[in-house]
Order: sequence, then C-alpha cells, then structure tokens
Amino acid sequence: MFAEPCCADELRQLLICAKRYRIPLSVIGAGSNILAGDKELRRIVARLGGDFKKFSFCGTAMRCGSGLGLNQALLAGQRRGLAGLEFLAGVPGTIGGALVSNAGAWGRSIGDAVEQVRVMGRSGRIKVLHKKDIKFSYRSSGLEKYIILDAVFRLKRTASAQIREKISQYLKQRHAAQDNSRPNAGCVFKNPSGGVSAGRLIDLCGLKGRRIGGAVISLRHANFILNSGGAHARDVLALMRLAKNKVKNKFGITLEPEIKIWL
Ligand code: EPU
Repeated sequence: MFAEPCCADELRQLLICAKRYRIPLSVIGAGSNILAGDKELRRIVARLGGDFKKFSFCGTAMRCGSGLGLNQALLAGQRRGLAGLEFLAGVPGTIGGALVSNAGAWGRSIGDAVEQVRVMGRSGRIKVLHKKDIKFSYRSSGLEKYIILDAVFRLKRTASAQIREKISQYLKQRHAAQDNSRPNAGCVFKNPSGGVSAGRLIDLCGLKGRRIGGAVISLRHANFILNSGGAHARDVLALMRLAKNKVKNKFGITLEPEIKIWL
C-alpha cells in the first residue's frame, strides 16, 4: 500500500488506520538509502508531500518540512544568504530521511545544525524535541520511532556567492570520490569505529568490480554497489554478504549496513 499524506492531519489519520489494521508503516523519504526486497512489501509506504515540502525563514533560522529535498533546502538557504548545510550538497535525500539517519559528509552531520525537530508519535501526538533531547551520533538519531514533521536549523548570514562556491566545491569533491554512474544507495555499510573506511576495507579485499546478477561493486568506491541494469535486491544482498565475510576474515572487523533494508 502506498499513501501520500499532505499535512499532519492526514498523516494522523493514516497512522490511526495503520494501527487499527496492525499494518506497519514506513516513510520512504526520497528512497535514496533504502534497499527494498524483491517480494511484495507487507507494509504501508508513505511519502510525505504537500505541507511537508514547505520551508520558511525567521531571522537566521530555517524551518524545513521533512519531505523537502536536501538539495532544495540548500538552494533556498543559499538564495537567502544563510549558510550551514552546504556539506550535504549532493546527498540525495529528504530532510526527514537525513535526520533519522543523521546523514553526513566531510566530518559533519545534519544533527550538528539542528535546533529543534517536530515529530508525530505513532498514536498521532505531536511533540517538539530540542537538540538536547535527541541522541544524535554517527548515522543514528533515535528518531525512527517517530515520524518527523519538520525541523528548524540555525544558520549563519553569509554572502550568497560564497555559499554557492562552497556548494560547488563539495559537489566536486563528491564527484571525484564517489560513483553515481549507475543507480545506487550510497555507502552500503557504516564505517567501523576507529576512523577506518568500510570502502577501503572492501577495496583491500580485492572486491572492486565483483558482480552478482545485475549488481556490481563500484570500481571507484568499494562501499558503493551499483545497479548495472536489472539488479534484484537479492543480488545486492549477496554482494553485501560477500563483502562482510571477506572483511571479517581478513581484518576481524564486522561491517554493519548503513542502508535500510526493507524485506
Ligand atoms: N578508499 C579506498 N578505496 C575505496 C574507497 C575509499 O581506498 O574503494 C579510501 C579513500 O581513498 C580515502 C578513504 O578510503 O582515503 C576514505 O574514503 P572517502 O573519503 O570516500 O570516505 P568514506 O569514509 O568512504 C564517508 C561517508 C560518505 C561521505 C564521505 C565523505 C560513511 C559510510 N561514508 O565515506 O557517506 O560522503 O565520507 O565525507 O560514513 C553515505 O553515507 O552513503 C556516504 C556516501
């Protein structure tokens, strides 16, 4: 089942309905960090539209709906001369998805810039969480038990041209290091603690270019699995299992998935 609630009231009705019929509900965001299984999904998939895509400013604060695209948010900030989220340039997701997984790049995460997040509990109750109430850590926030409605970011007045320049630098860096030649979900594994890159570990196992079905480990960045055409989720999962086993045998390190797997 697929639903697109366009305001908090519609979302509440959907949650009540999901609860009554005991069907799990998952929010898809931009779908950019999700591997959906090959079989029918036994859940309601919700995409947040309408009001959830809006943004507004108050002084140097920017309120973004959770369904707003990250890159649209960056662009709106840049036009207004407000800086603070540029490090996320090129990350393909929504504000809500990025907050739940505390998305980040270049040593910073979205949680660093948040002031408060408005959420709805599974029973439909709305709560405002301040930064201090949220347990942001590497690729985690503890917010998955809620549905995020919107968030306020504290930004900094900066010349628009300067922000544009920063965004373009980050995009160049991303383009040089990562592989978007084919559809993919970004890094499939989290980096293990200790500052080592999962991509480097998989690379050192000689797995770049390894293919199963339509899925292939990128030649440019070994933590990226590309859909080279007609890949099934089972192909991606088989490559993930292979990489996990090889890294465990060679380095004694257990890789954990970064992507969300919906089976
Ligand atoms: N490296 C290799 N071989 C590879 C890939 C990387 O040797 O196949 C080396 C690089 O040369 C570099 C080091 O490993 O010396 C780190 O690589 P990179 O700078 O690409 O960073 P990463 O740790 O692999 C992390 C995030 C990315 C984020 C970049 C940039 C995770 C799992 N990944 O990647 O986030 O964009 O830093 O800050 O935290 C994502 O979350 O989906 C994602 C792509």
